[in-house]
Amino acid sequence: MSPGPDDDAAAGGCPFGHGALVPADGADGADDAITHHDALLDFSGEMSYGDYLHLDQVLGAQHPLSPDHNEMLFIVQHQTSELWMKLMLHELRAAIDALRADRLPAGFKMLARVSRILEQLVHAWDVLATMTPPEYSAIRAHLARSSGFQSWQYRCIEFGLGNKNGAMLRPHAHRPDLLAIVDAAWRAPSLYDEALRLLARRGLPVPASHLDRDWTRPYAASDAVEAAWLVVYRDPEAHWDLYQLGEELADLEDAFRLWRFRHLTTVERIIGHKRGTGGTSGVGYLRRMLDTVLFPEIWKLRTDL
Ligand code: HEM
Repeated sequence: MSPGPDDDAAAGGCPFGHGALVPADGADGADDAITHHDALLDFSGEMSYGDYLHLDQVLGAQHPLSPDHNEMLFIVQHQTSELWMKLMLHELRAAIDALRADRLPAGFKMLARVSRILEQLVHAWDVLATMTPPEYSAIRAHLARSSGFQSWQYRCIEFGLGNKNGAMLRPHAHRPDLLAIVDAAWRAPSLYDEALRLLARRGLPVPASHLDRDWTRPYAASDAVEAAWLVVYRDPEAHWDLYQLGEELADLEDAFRLWRFRHLTTVERIIGHKRGTGGTSGVGYLRRMLDTVLFPEIWKLRTDL
């Protein structure tokens, strides 16, 4: 029998077959330094890769509830999405702060990163799409009523992007610590609200109704806001950074729409029109969410320009 990856790893070599193995006696001579490209091999007194990344916790957090082989895919897909959402929120909050402080280049960098993360998550659906309806059925009962609908990070992202809906706080009522975080995102001005306040600081005619309002209310599209953006888009040279901001917003919403669409199509191929574990109509609900428009004037101005 050929040695398995664990045998190599136990011997100190790369489990994927790269590089050489540590000699069985663990000798630590000059030849070894050459063989191992001077890599440090003794971590008894040093912080290792796994220590730094807390891999024991991260890789110890997959606990399938069914005996089914495919549940690991389902868990890893959700957990990796949550990790990317964690980074997205980190960048989105910092981007909102940057706009508020008129630090546009820093904000652009972060917004570009959010868009690239979303693109990454769009491609991730291809992995989940390898799950067939019978494979999902084998684990469905074990999921009980849990659903991505209850993702507090996702809700903070939606709120941060301006898709406010107070009803979405309710799934978090049983966790006051998380509820406080989602509630704060609901009450705060969104990325787009801060973008409009920035336009106003630059002397563009944004109506007062859109500069200070009850931020928990859904955003209401406005011809006057569109008129302000049109000033920017009719003379990009004169307003280059605001023009760039408008296009960063378009990039972000474009990527988010693709994520929503791939979620919908992946869900449809796996569960058809069955109800969701979260209790909604499933595909019908996700299809309605596709109609969400986060930055309406950024899209409308393309028709009116
Ligand atoms: C087999 C895989 C999946 C199925 C069948 C599925 C199904 C659904 C359904 C039916 C909904 C509507 C709410 C409900 O009634 O449950 C939903 C919502 C949601 N799902 Fe999934 N999903 C899957 C994978 C994922 C993955 C990998 C993520 C990534 C985190 C995710 C994130 C979400 C989010 C954030 C919502 C809320 C969307 C919103 O409110 O607009 N889902 N999912």
